[in-house]
Amino acid sequence: MVTSRFLTRRSLFRLAAALSGAAMLPRCGFDPEEGAAYTPWSFPDPTRAPLLQVVHAGLLAANPHDTQPWRFVVTPDRVRVFVDRARSLGAMDPLGRERIIGLGCAIENMVVWAPEVGLVATVVARTDADSPDLVADVLLATAKSPRSELAGGLARRKTHRGRYGEFPLDPALGRELGRLASDPVVALTTLTDARMDTFRDGTRRATRAIVDDAGMNDASHAWYRHTKEEIDRHRDGLTLDAQSLGAFTTAAGKTLGRPSAADAGGYWIANTEEVHTGPVTAFAILSTRALEDVGELLQVGRVYQRLHLFAAREGLAMQPLNQLPERRDRERQKGLRPDLEPVLASLAEGHAQMAFRIGVAWDDTHHSPRRPVEWVTEVTS
Ligand SMILES: Cc1cc2nc3c(=O)[nH]c(=O)nc-3n(C[C@H](O)[C@H](O)[C@H](O)COP(=O)(O)O)c2cc1C
Repeated sequence: MVTSRFLTRRSLFRLAAALSGAAMLPRCGFDPEEGAAYTPWSFPDPTRAPLLQVVHAGLLAANPHDTQPWRFVVTPDRVRVFVDRARSLGAMDPLGRERIIGLGCAIENMVVWAPEVGLVATVVARTDADSPDLVADVLLATAKSPRSELAGGLARRKTHRGRYGEFPLDPALGRELGRLASDPVVALTTLTDARMDTFRDGTRRATRAIVDDAGMNDASHAWYRHTKEEIDRHRDGLTLDAQSLGAFTTAAGKTLGRPSAADAGGYWIANTEEVHTGPVTAFAILSTRALEDVGELLQVGRVYQRLHLFAAREGLAMQPLNQLPERRDRERQKGLRPDLEPVLASLAEGHAQMAFRIGVAWDDTHHSPRRPVEWVTEVTS
């Protein structure tokens, strides 16, 4: 557990944030979206059969651009996890790495929730030539197993893209992150020293390169949902509410109408420079030995999700900032001169798979939409 010293300092910081009034801005007539696209966050739903509760836990996981690139087939003893290649980020994820990491995040949520419904989960990665979209089976047996300390974070976890405080990493928190990330194939590098500025500079450069690359910027923008009607229809994608821009900017954004891809790219650059790479407790990178090994990518997702569930439980904020690996992949795909790969190599050993920030946010943020269990699950006997 984190020390009480850490908790005390965090509580003080939160109190200061509350007193500053940051959390009390008027909503300017634009409440955050709600409705059918958000009902999956009412979790758990004890009226569901245990295996469907496990699937429900899975679809609440972090995943790239909220593409939710999954399909689940439920049989009496397992949940079969398939990649849905139609839900692709295209040029933003040219190697398809992030898609598999997202499936790993979903699998971790299922493993964490299984004991809550009297099941124990065993994950088996699959590479089956006859069924190339099948990536893993989550075998579920009736057994008593210890409840996970992370289960309470499932419905609370959300990607936080708002401002964080300048709050140094408590050594006890660093040790706890290291313990949770301990894995045979995934390494966690926590950046708290001068390398933070290298990360900041690299992430800003990568973001500008992505926005300048129309293929990447358009692929990213295709998953932006502007209106309530779009959100209700698709129940996926990036929304204004989930950007944590503050009540005034969010209301202005909703009034102005859907931005062009170029304008959205410009806002993203500004936000990356002013907010996402601003004050923080730490940046961190998850890396593996191989770049594209499906089993290792699933493990990256599992470790990331575990860390994020822990952060949610502890009232800490997290946001993936994956522009460096995304741009590295694009350089490889297009055979470009490697500009950002050397930056990643200077920050972490092996192949960087997922970069993120962790800290204490000034304000709360909002959930992203989710497609319901029924849209993504087939039940077979
Ligand atoms: C592999 C991966 C890469 C991601 N990259 C980014 C990123 O670069 N920037 C960002 O703001 N969010 C990133 N995310 C977070 C997703 O956008 C987020 O999980 C998704 O929109 C669902 O929202 P939620 O996490 O609040 O449920 C990433 C998530 C995953 C799994």
